[in-house]
Amino acid sequence: MSNIGSYEERIEGFDWSLSEKELEYTPGDRINIGWYCTDRICRMGKADKTALIWEGLGGASRTYTFNDIRLAANTIGRFLRDLGIADQDRVCLFMDKIPELYLGFLGILKIGAIAQPLFSAFGDESLLVRLENAETSAIITQRKHVSKVRKIRDRLPHLKHIIIVDYDGRKPLQEREQAFSLDDADPVEELEVFPTEAESPSVLHYTSGTTGMPKGVKHVHYSLIAQYLTAKWVLDLQDDDIYWCTADPGWVTGTSYGIIGPWSLGITQCVLDCGFSAAAWYRFIEKHRVTVWYSAPTAIRSLMRAGEEVVKDHDLSGLRHLASVGEPLNSEAVIWSGKVFGKPFHDTYWQTETGVIMIANYPGMKVKPGSMGKPFPGITGVILDPVSHEPIAEAGKIGLIAFKPGWPSMMRTYWNNEATYQAKFVNNWYLSGDRASIDNEGYFWFVGRDDDVINTGGHLVSPFEVESALLEHEAVAESAVVSKPDEVNMEVVKAFVMLNPGFEPDAELELKIMNFIRKKLSPLAMPQEIEYVESLPKTRSGKIMRRLLHAQEWGEEIGDTSTLEDE
Ligand code: PRX
Repeated sequence: MSNIGSYEERIEGFDWSLSEKELEYTPGDRINIGWYCTDRICRMGKADKTALIWEGLGGASRTYTFNDIRLAANTIGRFLRDLGIADQDRVCLFMDKIPELYLGFLGILKIGAIAQPLFSAFGDESLLVRLENAETSAIITQRKHVSKVRKIRDRLPHLKHIIIVDYDGRKPLQEREQAFSLDDADPVEELEVFPTEAESPSVLHYTSGTTGMPKGVKHVHYSLIAQYLTAKWVLDLQDDDIYWCTADPGWVTGTSYGIIGPWSLGITQCVLDCGFSAAAWYRFIEKHRVTVWYSAPTAIRSLMRAGEEVVKDHDLSGLRHLASVGEPLNSEAVIWSGKVFGKPFHDTYWQTETGVIMIANYPGMKVKPGSMGKPFPGITGVILDPVSHEPIAEAGKIGLIAFKPGWPSMMRTYWNNEATYQAKFVNNWYLSGDRASIDNEGYFWFVGRDDDVINTGGHLVSPFEVESALLEHEAVAESAVVSKPDEVNMEVVKAFVMLNPGFEPDAELELKIMNFIRKKLSPLAMPQEIEYVESLPKTRSGKIMRRLLHAQEWGEEIGDTSTLEDE
């Protein structure tokens, strides 16, 4: 029997107070995610239950019980507090998927500070803009990443502490640097948990938009109410499960469902910190008898390419429930997984801003391959007419995905950017920025984004950020960045570049430009191709029409070009 039971019955009279009751939370009480994921689970008698099975490169492995993660979070929390980190200070986590990333996250929340996880793959410029925007006080990192922090620290007056979790004493620590080792520190048995309340800020995740710099999505401790229940009903996490979320906590999936959801439910989860390979993934599932697996379409398409033979080399019979998020999950992938794993991937749809899964295929509900499923109980999801912004009743008609505001884990604002936050609402609907239709059985079908943001392998890339990086190169006069189709990543980044006089449009220059922007962008945002052009299509007001270039790449109708400069 699945946790959700009947979706239809759950919808009837649904109220989030159901989740509050399960968590023994009364409105007005204190609520702290760090405490809920550790101390409460220990008090429930699960102190010795395994919380984390971690495997790293070269076969390194560690196992932690719930009591271990409680102590580790306390120890990191105390260390930060002793450094002078106060509630609401921003503390950045800039690490690979090592245990300190997960345990540090909880420690930060326990002292009421705000966790700011960032991908360790980010280059120094990407790191800089996000730390500057958040006025981050401290960063926790590894030896292998500290050189990027050193390059930018002089431009970050707010950054008081650079904490290295694997300092080996070989080279002297530099200005503002501190060594901290979980293995060497005295475990802190009791830590006074900061009395955070429902609206106290908890996590700051950065996401890309079409224009402007990345936006810091601010979440609060009350988000737990929805993270807990969605993990329980959508991912169907049950007491004896071994759960694997493949997402990096630099991304919201890796915190909402790679830390908070499973641990607030007292579930054992495993983490694999190594690059992608089908054989390594299957070996991991087999070895740990993974039962619930939450992954992403690009990874699933890569597994499809690796073929069925490699599946047959492993015993994956422990798998009980599979789910996916981040980009369109094509029907072929759902059908393929049914064939090779004996169960379909259940698509789920949500955003950094929503904090939790909004639309999903639930255990026990009929899966229509290619559809994202139906809104979670308590979530009012509609398709709005793009002009009137009124809900469309007609089945199959494409419009904007919008939600009625007010679910527990909705972002509270964009950090230092309230105007952009307010612009997400129309007629009291939250606009997701995506387009879809609803069929006559209430299933949502994703169509595409309603803006120019590129979703490559599940990662959102702002064309503006890539264009800005390109423009800093002396050879580039103008640029336009769009997506182009790709078999595995669905879409990848392509740049059109107009050169300044005196530069030759050749392969050597392309390499130079690529190397130049590599330092500024995350590897995820790097263009796969640069095409030199004589001119770029523009509107009469001089704005570059990415839409035309996009249509050209995707072989689509070009549509209305009446505002083109030079028809
Ligand atoms: O465009 C949608 C796409 O990813 C966007 C949100 O990205 P991000 O904030 O990075 O968070 C992703 C993980 C929660 C959405 O606006 N997206 C997400 N899930 C799906 C999807 N597109 C199609 N199908 C999905 N299931």
